[in-house]
Amino acid sequence: MEQNGVLILEDNIIEVNNLEYFFDEIKAVDDISFKVRKGEIFSFLGPNGAGKSTVINILTTLLPMQKGRVTIAGHDLRTEPEKVRESIGIVFQELTLDRDMTVQEILEYHGRLYSMPKTQRQARVDELLSLVELEAKRNVLTRHLSGGMKRRLEIARGLMTRPKVLFMDEPTIGLDPQTRIRIWEYVRDINRQGTTIFLTTHYMDEADQLSDYISIVDHGQIIATGKPWELKNALGQDIIYLETSDNQGASNILEGLDTVRGVRDKSKGIIVMVNVDGTHLLPEIMEKLQKGGIKIRVVNLKKPSMDDVFVHYTGRELRDTGTEKTVVVKPGGR
Ligand SMILES: Nc1ncnc2c1ncn2[C@@H]1O[C@H](COP(=O)(O)OP(=O)(O)OP(=O)(O)O)[C@@H](O)[C@H]1O
Ligand SMILES: [Mg+2]
Repeated sequence: MEQNGVLILEDNIIEVNNLEYFFDEIKAVDDISFKVRKGEIFSFLGPNGAGKSTVINILTTLLPMQKGRVTIAGHDLRTEPEKVRESIGIVFQELTLDRDMTVQEILEYHGRLYSMPKTQRQARVDELLSLVELEAKRNVLTRHLSGGMKRRLEIARGLMTRPKVLFMDEPTIGLDPQTRIRIWEYVRDINRQGTTIFLTTHYMDEADQLSDYISIVDHGQIIATGKPWELKNALGQDIIYLETSDNQGASNILEGLDTVRGVRDKSKGIIVMVNVDGTHLLPEIMEKLQKGGIKIRVVNLKKPSMDDVFVHYTGRELRDTGTEKTVVVKPGGR
């Protein structure tokens, strides 16, 4: 973009404003806005039914735009959907490989579909099979691949046309821990080579370890957004879990301390978020509670994790299916 003769680098590769989507009367996407910077790994983290796939499906033109504005790689999704499609690659949540094609055929066919010339196609297939370590399976039917190999092939297919943005919907769902870590390595490699990644996940560790930027999505809305460390730091420097003879009394005492950012109930105990090094504060906390006649039964001290961030903003664990909702103040974001 040029303004007053000065070249301005367009660093947002995706811009989404006030996106909404209804499946009949179900509001799956509820006024979502966010930006993805060129070259970053951006994640949507949220539970089942949060609306992650719906957003990805709209952005990749598989679902129609109902309300809102989306720009991808400088193209308006409503007016230039085919330009958007040329700029992106997609890895779906469900496996979508033809069972009766070989690994090589899947990639070849995808290249042909996008009118890649033959020599380019062949070179790209070789390059990608090497990236996802499937050279040895080149002539094997996809029905004979393991789940992890299928996923790797789908990633390779998504990259076939050298997209500017790769969309990945739950890239490691249902895979064993080693395969998941392997796929994270591919994602980092792809990203280092210049591809922007937009991924959805309900795995806290995946979002935490892979992303430059995370938006936590719940009930069709973005409820918190930031870099992983920013989201975690917002909860405090340390988290202390206490089970005591009087949790309510303990909360009342601790909430009054300057060094305590907040106290929350958790099943049999309380979670105390602290602004200082917990190892130094803990003796003071124990002394205060003892003076108040409260006995401590269990103590645990740790750094805030992405799970804690999720519970903090949604009011529940990711595995819970409850629909209760806490009202939260959105942190700054960008
Ligand atoms: N084809 C559809 N018809 C009707 N409702 C749908 C359809 N697809 C999704 N929904 C509803 O829209 C909401 C969001 O679903 P979506 O698939 O986007 O969630 P998600 O975050 O991707 O969940 P998951 O983690 O399970 O993949 C849910 O309430 C879901 O039931
Ligand atoms: Mg989904």
